[in-house]
Amino acid sequence: MSERTPAEVVDAVSVAFEEAFGAAPAGVWSAPGRVNLIGEHTDYNGGLCLPIALPHRTYAAAARRDDDVLRMVSAQQDGVVEVGLDDVSPERPGGWASYVAGVLWALRRDGLTVGGLDVLVDSTVPLGAGLSSSAALECAVASAASDLFSLDLLDSAEGRARLAARCVEAENVIAGAPTGGMDQSASLLCDEAAALLLDCRSGETRQVPFDLDAAGYVLLVTDTRAEHALVDGQYAARREACEQAARDLGVETLREIDPSGLDVALERLGSDEVRRRVRHVVTEIDRVTLTVAALEAGDLDEVGRLFDASHASLRDDYEVSCEELDVATETARSEGALGARMTGGGFGGSCIAIVRASDADRVGAAIAKAFEAQGFTAPVSFTVTASRPAD
Ligand code: ADP
Ligand code: GAL
Repeated sequence: MSERTPAEVVDAVSVAFEEAFGAAPAGVWSAPGRVNLIGEHTDYNGGLCLPIALPHRTYAAAARRDDDVLRMVSAQQDGVVEVGLDDVSPERPGGWASYVAGVLWALRRDGLTVGGLDVLVDSTVPLGAGLSSSAALECAVASAASDLFSLDLLDSAEGRARLAARCVEAENVIAGAPTGGMDQSASLLCDEAAALLLDCRSGETRQVPFDLDAAGYVLLVTDTRAEHALVDGQYAARREACEQAARDLGVETLREIDPSGLDVALERLGSDEVRRRVRHVVTEIDRVTLTVAALEAGDLDEVGRLFDASHASLRDDYEVSCEELDVATETARSEGALGARMTGGGFGGSCIAIVRASDADRVGAAIAKAFEAQGFTAPVSFTVTASRPAD
Protein backbone atom coordinates (compact mmCIF):
# COMPACT_ATOMS: atom_id res chain seq x y z
CA MET A 1 0.00 0.00 0.00
CA SER A 2 1.38 3.35 -0.99
CA GLU A 3 1.73 5.93 1.77
CA ARG A 4 2.10 8.84 -0.68
CA THR A 5 -0.24 11.82 -0.36
CA PRO A 6 -2.36 12.87 -3.37
CA ALA A 7 -0.25 16.03 -3.81
CA GLU A 8 2.92 13.93 -3.90
CA VAL A 9 1.51 11.65 -6.58
CA VAL A 10 0.30 14.59 -8.69
CA ASP A 11 3.82 16.06 -8.53
CA ALA A 12 5.43 12.70 -9.26
CA VAL A 13 3.29 12.03 -12.36
CA SER A 14 3.93 15.52 -13.74
CA VAL A 15 7.70 15.15 -13.31
CA ALA A 16 7.68 11.61 -14.70
CA PHE A 17 5.56 12.73 -17.67
CA GLU A 18 8.08 15.43 -18.55
CA GLU A 19 10.94 12.94 -18.25
CA ALA A 20 9.17 10.42 -20.46
CA PHE A 21 7.77 12.74 -23.13
CA GLY A 22 10.00 15.85 -22.99
CA ALA A 23 7.29 18.43 -22.18
CA ALA A 24 4.91 19.20 -19.33
CA PRO A 25 1.47 17.50 -19.34
CA ALA A 26 -1.67 19.53 -20.13
CA GLY A 27 -3.08 18.38 -16.80
CA VAL A 28 -3.48 15.56 -14.29
CA TRP A 29 -6.74 13.64 -13.86
CA SER A 30 -7.54 10.95 -11.32
CA ALA A 31 -10.13 8.30 -10.52
CA PRO A 32 -10.71 6.16 -7.42
CA GLY A 33 -10.74 2.42 -6.82
CA ARG A 34 -13.79 1.08 -4.99
CA VAL A 35 -15.04 -1.35 -2.41
CA ASN A 36 -18.51 -2.72 -2.83
CA LEU A 37 -20.37 -2.67 0.50
CA ILE A 38 -22.82 -5.35 -0.65
CA GLY A 39 -24.46 -6.66 -3.85
CA GLU A 40 -21.77 -8.98 -5.20
CA HIS A 41 -22.06 -10.70 -8.58
CA THR A 42 -25.35 -8.91 -9.08
CA ASP A 43 -24.31 -6.25 -11.63
CA TYR A 44 -24.27 -8.56 -14.65
CA ASN A 45 -27.63 -9.94 -13.50
CA GLY A 46 -29.37 -6.57 -13.78
CA GLY A 47 -29.31 -6.33 -9.97
CA LEU A 48 -28.42 -3.81 -7.28
CA CYS A 49 -25.03 -3.04 -5.77
CA LEU A 50 -23.72 -0.49 -3.27
CA PRO A 51 -20.09 0.58 -3.81
CA ILE A 52 -18.11 3.43 -2.26
CA ALA A 53 -15.15 5.23 -3.87
CA LEU A 54 -11.81 4.70 -2.10
CA PRO A 55 -9.34 7.42 -1.13
CA HIS A 56 -6.88 5.40 -3.26
CA ARG A 57 -6.73 6.74 -6.81
CA THR A 58 -5.06 6.29 -10.17
CA TYR A 59 -3.55 9.49 -11.57
CA ALA A 60 -3.12 10.17 -15.28
CA ALA A 61 -0.93 13.02 -16.58
CA ALA A 62 -1.78 13.56 -20.23
CA ALA A 63 -1.35 15.81 -23.25
CA ARG A 64 -2.86 15.81 -26.75
CA ARG A 65 -0.74 14.91 -29.75
CA ASP A 66 -1.06 16.14 -33.33
CA ASP A 67 -1.45 12.61 -34.70
CA ASP A 68 -3.50 9.50 -33.88
CA VAL A 69 -0.78 7.81 -31.84
CA LEU A 70 -1.21 6.81 -28.21
CA ARG A 71 1.94 6.58 -26.08
CA MET A 72 1.55 5.15 -22.59
CA VAL A 73 3.83 4.86 -19.55
CA SER A 74 2.94 3.50 -16.10
CA ALA A 75 4.90 3.86 -12.87
CA GLN A 76 3.64 0.33 -12.08
CA GLN A 77 4.92 -1.25 -15.34
CA ASP A 78 8.09 -1.24 -17.45
CA GLY A 79 8.65 0.61 -20.74
CA VAL A 80 6.70 2.82 -23.13
CA VAL A 81 3.81 1.27 -25.05
CA GLU A 82 2.80 2.84 -28.37
CA VAL A 83 -0.19 2.07 -30.59
CA GLY A 84 -2.02 3.86 -33.42
CA LEU A 85 -5.68 4.50 -32.53
CA ASP A 86 -6.79 2.74 -35.73
CA ASP A 87 -4.84 -0.35 -34.69
CA VAL A 88 -6.42 -0.88 -31.26
CA SER A 89 -8.01 -4.35 -31.05
CA PRO A 90 -8.38 -7.24 -28.57
CA GLU A 91 -4.83 -8.21 -29.64
CA ARG A 92 -3.25 -4.74 -29.64
CA PRO A 93 -1.61 -3.24 -27.66
CA GLY A 94 -2.20 -6.13 -25.18
CA GLY A 95 -1.34 -6.20 -21.46
CA TRP A 96 -2.00 -3.27 -19.16
CA ALA A 97 -2.01 -0.70 -21.99
CA SER A 98 -5.20 -2.30 -23.38
CA TYR A 99 -7.16 -0.71 -20.54
CA VAL A 100 -5.92 2.74 -21.65
CA ALA A 101 -6.16 2.25 -25.41
CA GLY A 102 -9.54 0.54 -25.02
CA VAL A 103 -11.04 3.69 -23.54
CA LEU A 104 -10.06 5.83 -26.56
CA TRP A 105 -11.21 3.04 -28.89
CA ALA A 106 -14.64 2.96 -27.17
CA LEU A 107 -15.02 6.76 -27.20
CA ARG A 108 -14.31 6.80 -30.93
CA ARG A 109 -16.75 3.96 -31.54
CA ASP A 110 -19.37 6.09 -29.75
CA GLY A 111 -18.89 8.71 -32.48
CA LEU A 112 -16.84 11.09 -30.33
CA THR A 113 -13.84 12.89 -31.81
CA VAL A 114 -10.69 11.90 -29.96
CA GLY A 115 -7.10 11.88 -31.23
CA GLY A 116 -3.69 10.76 -30.02
CA LEU A 117 -2.43 11.26 -26.48
CA ASP A 118 0.69 10.92 -24.40
CA VAL A 119 -0.33 9.44 -21.03
CA LEU A 120 1.62 8.66 -17.89
CA VAL A 121 -0.15 6.89 -15.02
CA ASP A 122 0.67 6.21 -11.40
CA SER A 123 -1.58 4.71 -8.76
CA THR A 124 -2.13 4.29 -5.04
CA VAL A 125 -4.75 1.58 -5.68
CA PRO A 126 -3.11 -1.81 -5.12
CA LEU A 127 -3.16 -3.76 -8.41
CA GLY A 128 -5.12 -7.01 -8.51
CA ALA A 129 -6.44 -6.65 -4.93
CA GLY A 130 -10.09 -6.70 -5.96
CA LEU A 131 -10.23 -2.92 -5.41
CA SER A 132 -10.70 -2.11 -9.12
CA SER A 133 -7.34 -0.68 -10.10
CA SER A 134 -8.28 -1.49 -13.68
CA ALA A 135 -11.49 0.59 -13.54
CA ALA A 136 -9.58 3.42 -11.81
CA LEU A 137 -7.08 3.35 -14.69
CA GLU A 138 -9.83 3.40 -17.34
CA CYS A 139 -11.78 6.17 -15.61
CA ALA A 140 -8.71 8.38 -15.06
CA VAL A 141 -7.91 8.13 -18.78
CA ALA A 142 -11.57 8.69 -19.73
CA SER A 143 -11.60 11.85 -17.57
CA ALA A 144 -8.44 13.13 -19.26
CA ALA A 145 -9.90 12.43 -22.71
CA SER A 146 -13.20 14.12 -21.82
CA ASP A 147 -11.42 17.36 -20.89
CA LEU A 148 -8.63 17.30 -23.49
CA PHE A 149 -11.01 16.66 -26.40
CA SER A 150 -13.75 18.95 -25.00
CA LEU A 151 -16.27 16.12 -24.69
CA ASP A 152 -17.59 17.70 -21.44
CA LEU A 153 -18.77 14.34 -20.14
CA LEU A 154 -17.66 14.96 -16.55
CA ASP A 155 -20.11 17.81 -16.07
CA SER A 156 -23.32 15.81 -15.68
CA ALA A 157 -24.44 12.47 -14.23
CA GLU A 158 -25.58 11.45 -17.75
CA GLY A 159 -22.16 12.29 -19.19
CA ARG A 160 -20.43 10.35 -16.43
CA ALA A 161 -22.70 7.34 -16.99
CA ARG A 162 -21.82 7.48 -20.69
CA LEU A 163 -18.10 7.58 -19.87
CA ALA A 164 -18.58 4.62 -17.49
CA ALA A 165 -20.29 2.63 -20.26
CA ARG A 166 -17.35 3.30 -22.61
CA CYS A 167 -14.89 2.17 -19.91
CA VAL A 168 -16.86 -1.08 -19.48
CA GLU A 169 -16.60 -1.68 -23.25
CA ALA A 170 -12.86 -1.05 -23.08
CA GLU A 171 -12.55 -3.69 -20.36
CA ASN A 172 -14.90 -6.23 -21.97
CA VAL A 173 -13.85 -5.92 -25.62
CA ILE A 174 -10.24 -4.69 -25.69
CA ALA A 175 -8.87 -5.93 -22.33
CA GLY A 176 -11.01 -9.08 -22.65
CA ALA A 177 -12.39 -9.25 -19.09
CA PRO A 178 -16.12 -10.13 -19.04
CA THR A 179 -16.92 -7.98 -15.99
CA GLY A 180 -20.19 -6.18 -15.21
CA GLY A 181 -20.49 -2.40 -14.93
CA MET A 182 -20.25 -1.74 -11.21
CA ASP A 183 -16.59 -0.72 -10.92
CA GLN A 184 -16.58 1.97 -13.60
CA SER A 185 -19.90 3.44 -12.37
CA ALA A 186 -18.48 3.54 -8.85
CA SER A 187 -15.33 5.33 -9.97
CA LEU A 188 -17.22 7.97 -11.96
CA LEU A 189 -20.42 8.39 -9.94
CA CYS A 190 -19.75 7.77 -6.21
CA ASP A 191 -19.89 10.85 -3.99
CA GLU A 192 -17.85 11.67 -0.91
CA ALA A 193 -19.39 10.34 2.36
CA ALA A 194 -21.93 8.29 0.39
CA ALA A 195 -22.43 4.83 -1.04
CA LEU A 196 -23.83 4.59 -4.57
CA LEU A 197 -27.00 2.54 -4.87
CA LEU A 198 -26.70 1.37 -8.44
CA ASP A 199 -29.60 -0.28 -10.24
CA CYS A 200 -27.96 -2.21 -13.06
CA ARG A 201 -31.30 -2.85 -14.79
CA SER A 202 -32.57 0.73 -15.09
CA GLY A 203 -29.20 2.48 -14.75
CA GLU A 204 -30.69 4.60 -11.96
CA THR A 205 -28.43 5.70 -9.13
CA ARG A 206 -28.99 7.13 -5.65
CA GLN A 207 -26.48 8.46 -3.13
CA VAL A 208 -26.94 6.80 0.28
CA PRO A 209 -25.19 8.68 3.14
CA PHE A 210 -22.36 6.51 4.47
CA ASP A 211 -20.39 7.88 7.38
CA LEU A 212 -19.42 5.26 9.95
CA ASP A 213 -17.16 7.71 11.81
CA ALA A 214 -20.13 9.54 13.28
CA ALA A 215 -21.14 6.31 15.06
CA GLY A 216 -17.58 5.53 16.20
CA TYR A 217 -17.02 2.81 13.59
CA VAL A 218 -14.72 2.42 10.58
CA LEU A 219 -14.62 0.26 7.49
CA LEU A 220 -11.54 -1.95 7.67
CA VAL A 221 -10.27 -3.28 4.33
CA THR A 222 -7.93 -6.27 4.30
CA ASP A 223 -6.11 -7.06 1.06
CA THR A 224 -5.51 -10.80 1.45
CA ARG A 225 -2.84 -10.73 -1.29
CA ALA A 226 -4.04 -14.23 -2.17
CA GLU A 227 -3.41 -15.29 -5.73
CA HIS A 228 -5.38 -18.11 -7.21
CA ALA A 229 -5.14 -19.59 -10.68
CA LEU A 230 -8.14 -19.88 -13.03
CA VAL A 231 -9.84 -16.81 -11.57
CA ASP A 232 -10.84 -15.31 -14.91
CA GLY A 233 -12.39 -18.55 -16.11
CA GLN A 234 -14.36 -18.89 -12.87
CA TYR A 235 -15.85 -15.39 -13.21
CA ALA A 236 -16.90 -16.07 -16.78
CA ALA A 237 -18.36 -19.44 -15.75
CA ARG A 238 -20.49 -17.85 -13.00
CA ARG A 239 -21.75 -15.21 -15.41
CA GLU A 240 -22.60 -17.82 -18.05
CA ALA A 241 -24.42 -20.01 -15.49
CA CYS A 242 -26.60 -17.05 -14.46
CA GLU A 243 -27.37 -16.13 -18.07
CA GLN A 244 -28.28 -19.74 -18.88
CA ALA A 245 -30.50 -19.97 -15.78
CA ALA A 246 -32.30 -16.77 -16.83
CA ARG A 247 -32.92 -18.27 -20.29
CA ASP A 248 -34.20 -21.50 -18.69
CA LEU A 249 -36.57 -19.50 -16.49
CA GLY A 250 -37.76 -17.39 -19.45
CA VAL A 251 -36.64 -14.07 -17.96
CA GLU A 252 -34.26 -11.45 -19.33
CA THR A 253 -32.07 -11.43 -16.20
CA LEU A 254 -32.21 -12.97 -12.72
CA ARG A 255 -33.33 -9.56 -11.46
CA GLU A 256 -36.81 -10.52 -12.64
CA ILE A 257 -37.01 -13.26 -9.97
CA ASP A 258 -38.71 -11.79 -6.91
CA PRO A 259 -37.51 -13.21 -3.55
CA SER A 260 -41.11 -14.31 -2.86
CA GLY A 261 -41.06 -16.43 -6.03
CA LEU A 262 -37.57 -17.84 -5.49
CA ASP A 263 -38.56 -21.31 -4.28
CA VAL A 264 -40.91 -21.83 -7.23
CA ALA A 265 -38.19 -20.67 -9.65
CA LEU A 266 -35.59 -22.95 -8.05
CA GLU A 267 -37.82 -25.99 -8.53
CA ARG A 268 -37.72 -25.35 -12.28
CA LEU A 269 -33.93 -25.54 -12.46
CA GLY A 270 -32.08 -28.72 -13.33
CA SER A 271 -29.09 -28.95 -11.02
CA ASP A 272 -28.35 -28.23 -7.38
CA GLU A 273 -25.35 -26.13 -8.41
CA VAL A 274 -27.42 -23.84 -10.63
CA ARG A 275 -30.08 -23.55 -7.91
CA ARG A 276 -27.44 -22.35 -5.46
CA ARG A 277 -26.05 -19.81 -7.95
CA VAL A 278 -29.53 -18.37 -8.55
CA ARG A 279 -30.33 -18.36 -4.84
CA HIS A 280 -27.21 -16.28 -4.17
CA VAL A 281 -28.10 -13.68 -6.80
CA VAL A 282 -31.74 -13.28 -5.78
CA THR A 283 -31.06 -13.15 -2.03
CA GLU A 284 -28.04 -10.84 -2.51
CA ILE A 285 -30.10 -8.29 -4.46
CA ASP A 286 -32.61 -8.36 -1.58
CA ARG A 287 -29.79 -7.82 0.93
CA VAL A 288 -28.77 -4.63 -0.89
CA THR A 289 -32.26 -3.18 -0.38
CA LEU A 290 -32.20 -4.25 3.28
CA THR A 291 -28.72 -2.74 3.78
CA VAL A 292 -29.81 0.62 2.38
CA ALA A 293 -32.80 0.61 4.75
CA ALA A 294 -30.58 -0.32 7.71
CA LEU A 295 -28.05 2.41 6.85
CA GLU A 296 -30.82 4.96 6.56
CA ALA A 297 -32.19 3.82 9.95
CA GLY A 298 -28.70 4.04 11.49
CA ASP A 299 -28.85 0.32 12.37
CA LEU A 300 -25.23 -0.79 11.93
CA ASP A 301 -25.82 -4.09 13.78
CA GLU A 302 -28.25 -5.05 11.02
CA VAL A 303 -25.78 -3.92 8.32
CA GLY A 304 -23.21 -6.20 9.97
CA ARG A 305 -25.61 -9.17 9.94
CA LEU A 306 -26.30 -8.55 6.25
CA PHE A 307 -22.53 -8.46 5.54
CA ASP A 308 -22.18 -11.86 7.26
CA ALA A 309 -25.13 -13.33 5.34
CA SER A 310 -23.68 -12.02 2.07
CA HIS A 311 -20.34 -13.66 2.78
CA ALA A 312 -21.95 -16.99 3.66
CA SER A 313 -23.96 -16.89 0.43
CA LEU A 314 -20.87 -16.07 -1.66
CA ARG A 315 -18.92 -18.85 0.07
CA ASP A 316 -21.53 -21.62 0.09
CA ASP A 317 -23.93 -20.88 -2.77
CA TYR A 318 -21.88 -18.90 -5.28
CA GLU A 319 -18.55 -20.54 -4.33
CA VAL A 320 -16.31 -17.56 -5.07
CA SER A 321 -14.62 -17.22 -1.68
CA CYS A 322 -11.30 -18.83 -0.72
CA GLU A 323 -9.54 -19.87 2.49
CA GLU A 324 -7.85 -16.50 2.96
CA LEU A 325 -11.14 -14.56 2.63
CA ASP A 326 -12.87 -16.99 5.01
CA VAL A 327 -10.10 -16.73 7.63
CA ALA A 328 -10.04 -12.91 7.33
CA THR A 329 -13.81 -12.55 7.74
CA GLU A 330 -14.06 -15.12 10.56
CA THR A 331 -11.18 -13.50 12.46
CA ALA A 332 -12.69 -10.02 12.06
CA ARG A 333 -16.00 -11.31 13.45
CA SER A 334 -14.41 -13.14 16.37
CA GLU A 335 -12.50 -9.94 17.20
CA GLY A 336 -15.73 -7.97 17.50
CA ALA A 337 -16.55 -6.75 13.96
CA LEU A 338 -20.26 -6.08 13.46
CA GLY A 339 -19.97 -7.96 10.17
CA ALA A 340 -17.41 -8.93 7.55
CA ARG A 341 -17.50 -10.07 3.94
CA MET A 342 -15.42 -10.51 0.84
CA THR A 343 -15.73 -7.63 -1.64
CA GLY A 344 -15.29 -7.75 -5.41
CA GLY A 345 -15.12 -10.78 -7.66
CA GLY A 346 -13.60 -13.18 -5.10
CA PHE A 347 -11.03 -16.04 -5.27
CA GLY A 348 -8.65 -13.70 -3.42
CA GLY A 349 -8.80 -9.91 -3.32
CA SER A 350 -10.05 -8.04 -0.28
CA CYS A 351 -12.38 -8.37 2.67
CA ILE A 352 -14.25 -5.55 4.43
CA ALA A 353 -15.36 -5.40 8.07
CA ILE A 354 -17.25 -2.86 10.17
CA VAL A 355 -15.25 -2.42 13.38
CA ARG A 356 -15.12 0.08 16.23
CA ALA A 357 -12.63 2.81 15.37
CA SER A 358 -10.63 1.98 18.50
CA ASP A 359 -10.46 -1.73 17.49
CA ALA A 360 -9.22 -1.30 13.90
CA ASP A 361 -5.51 -1.85 14.59
CA ARG A 362 -6.19 -4.81 16.86
CA VAL A 363 -8.48 -6.51 14.32
CA GLY A 364 -5.95 -5.93 11.51
CA ALA A 365 -3.20 -7.42 13.67
CA ALA A 366 -5.38 -10.43 14.58
CA ILE A 367 -6.03 -11.13 10.89
CA ALA A 368 -2.28 -10.90 10.18
CA LYS A 369 -1.59 -13.33 13.03
CA ALA A 370 -4.23 -15.78 11.81
CA PHE A 371 -2.72 -15.64 8.30
CA GLU A 372 0.75 -16.32 9.69
CA ALA A 373 -0.57 -19.32 11.60
CA GLN A 374 -2.06 -20.70 8.37
CA GLY A 375 1.12 -20.06 6.36
CA PHE A 376 -0.63 -17.50 4.10
CA THR A 377 1.12 -14.47 2.58
CA ALA A 378 0.98 -11.49 5.00
CA PRO A 379 -2.19 -9.42 4.40
CA VAL A 380 -2.41 -5.61 4.36
CA SER A 381 -5.18 -3.90 6.36
CA PHE A 382 -6.23 -0.25 6.26
CA THR A 383 -9.32 1.84 7.00
CA VAL A 384 -11.15 3.79 4.30
CA THR A 385 -13.77 6.52 4.02
CA ALA A 386 -16.13 7.08 1.10
CA SER A 387 -14.31 9.45 -1.22
CA ARG A 388 -14.86 11.66 -4.27
CA PRO A 389 -15.35 10.42 -7.84
CA ALA A 390 -13.12 10.80 -10.90
CA ASP A 391 -12.08 14.35 -11.77
P1 ADP B 1 -8.22 -5.04 -9.94
O1 ADP B 1 -8.95 -4.22 -10.96
O2 ADP B 1 -9.12 -5.62 -8.91
O3 ADP B 1 -7.07 -4.33 -9.31
P2 ADP B 1 -7.60 -6.63 -12.24
O4 ADP B 1 -6.82 -7.89 -12.35
O5 ADP B 1 -8.96 -6.55 -12.82
O6 ADP B 1 -7.61 -6.28 -10.69
O7 ADP B 1 -6.76 -5.45 -12.89
C1 ADP B 1 -5.40 -5.28 -12.62
C2 ADP B 1 -4.70 -5.00 -13.92
O8 ADP B 1 -5.02 -3.68 -14.38
C3 ADP B 1 -3.18 -5.00 -13.79
O9 ADP B 1 -2.66 -6.29 -13.93
C4 ADP B 1 -2.79 -4.10 -14.96
O10 ADP B 1 -2.83 -4.79 -16.18
C5 ADP B 1 -3.90 -3.07 -14.98
N1 ADP B 1 -3.56 -1.88 -14.17
C6 ADP B 1 -4.26 -1.40 -13.12
N2 ADP B 1 -3.69 -0.28 -12.63
C7 ADP B 1 -2.59 -0.04 -13.38
C8 ADP B 1 -1.58 0.96 -13.38
N3 ADP B 1 -1.57 1.94 -12.49
N4 ADP B 1 -0.63 0.89 -14.33
C9 ADP B 1 -0.64 -0.10 -15.23
N5 ADP B 1 -1.55 -1.07 -15.28
C10 ADP B 1 -2.53 -1.06 -14.37
C1 GAL C 1 -15.70 -7.64 -10.19
C2 GAL C 1 -16.29 -7.16 -11.50
C3 GAL C 1 -17.62 -6.43 -11.21
C4 GAL C 1 -18.54 -7.29 -10.35
C5 GAL C 1 -17.77 -7.89 -9.17
C6 GAL C 1 -18.61 -8.86 -8.37
O1 GAL C 1 -14.51 -8.27 -10.38
O2 GAL C 1 -15.41 -6.26 -12.12
O3 GAL C 1 -18.24 -6.07 -12.42
O4 GAL C 1 -19.16 -8.30 -11.11
O5 GAL C 1 -16.60 -8.56 -9.58
O6 GAL C 1 -19.65 -8.18 -7.76
